[in-house]
Amino acid sequence: MVNRISTSEREVMRRLARLGIRPQRGDILYFLTTREPGEVEALYAEADRVRRECVGDEIHLRAIIEFSNHCRRDCRYCGIRRNFPGVTRYRMSVGEVVDAAAAAVDLGYRTLVLQSGEDGWFTRDRICRMVAGIKALGDVAVTLAVGERPVDEYRAFFNAGADRYLLKHETSDAELYARLNPGMNLETRIKCLRALKDVGFQTGSGIMIGLPGQTLESLAGDIMLFHELDMDMIGCGPYIPVAGCPTEWSERKREELSFRVLALNRVVTRDTHLPSTTALSTLNENDARALALQRGANVIMPNLTPERYRRFYEIYPSKKRIEVDTRAFRAELESLSFQLGRSISMGRGDRAGWTNA
Ligand code: 5AD
Repeated sequence: MVNRISTSEREVMRRLARLGIRPQRGDILYFLTTREPGEVEALYAEADRVRRECVGDEIHLRAIIEFSNHCRRDCRYCGIRRNFPGVTRYRMSVGEVVDAAAAAVDLGYRTLVLQSGEDGWFTRDRICRMVAGIKALGDVAVTLAVGERPVDEYRAFFNAGADRYLLKHETSDAELYARLNPGMNLETRIKCLRALKDVGFQTGSGIMIGLPGQTLESLAGDIMLFHELDMDMIGCGPYIPVAGCPTEWSERKREELSFRVLALNRVVTRDTHLPSTTALSTLNENDARALALQRGANVIMPNLTPERYRRFYEIYPSKKRIEVDTRAFRAELESLSFQLGRSISMGRGDRAGWTNA
């Protein structure tokens, strides 16, 4: 019996193929809006296929160290923004960060992600010392996520040995961006992203899904922007509402759209590194991670912030804390990757074609 392919199935396949060659907003929007379960499944299957073809079966682990929750910004959606009430502020010393990184390296991590609020105490010099201290531990990659800085500081961080930089643009809707990030603008953000690439970083961006006032059209614009900027890493997760900034979308819708955005990012950008985000696991504790890994993701970012600080880095309520026992979490990931026929990478997980000079 011949397996007939209907005209509409052929049309969906044509759209998926076109997304990998010449992405268009209309095709992206099509997959963000379709209500046909079969079409969504076709998108996920294509994302999984492209993932295997372009980045293989390895899962890369990035150890995150959240080293300061002081922040000069007041982003409406963020639980550590300057004026968010009741936050206990902490700041690790440069030595403490290097020690935490050394502990992560001992556990086998080859990428350290150093993340903080925009904290002026961490001057160019302090960040450079932190980076150099960690690079001296061995062949490990250092990713910085410390916000908007002047280009000469980015250059200094790179010269100190930092390999990668994360700076999410959060939304490509300029008006929404300005509303949610007082005193900031999208144009500056994108200038920073371009500057980071120019300096030589493997550069990552990302968005939140379900921000108040966000539209599916703007999400399509976000994916087009990742492609246009040739981002090396893209982290997208659902918006988790914080006090004073309610979402208009249900949990189900935010979760569903997060998966679709992940899969579309894979199909459009091909060989980028795409994490299964903590925010997604916060919405769906049980199987979001396994599903994300089968819908385009190839990265997991375990939290290795020292335990005494971890609960204070609450950028949103109930931020998932299953990783409290870092060894047990590692074992859990090994078993998950085995179940999925994947493997945990022992390498640094640079983007393909990246030379580690
Ligand atoms: N819900 C989900 N993600 C959030 N982030 C910040 N606030 C929230 C929230 N309420 C994300 C942003 C930021 C990253 C560190 O965490 O994308 O870049």
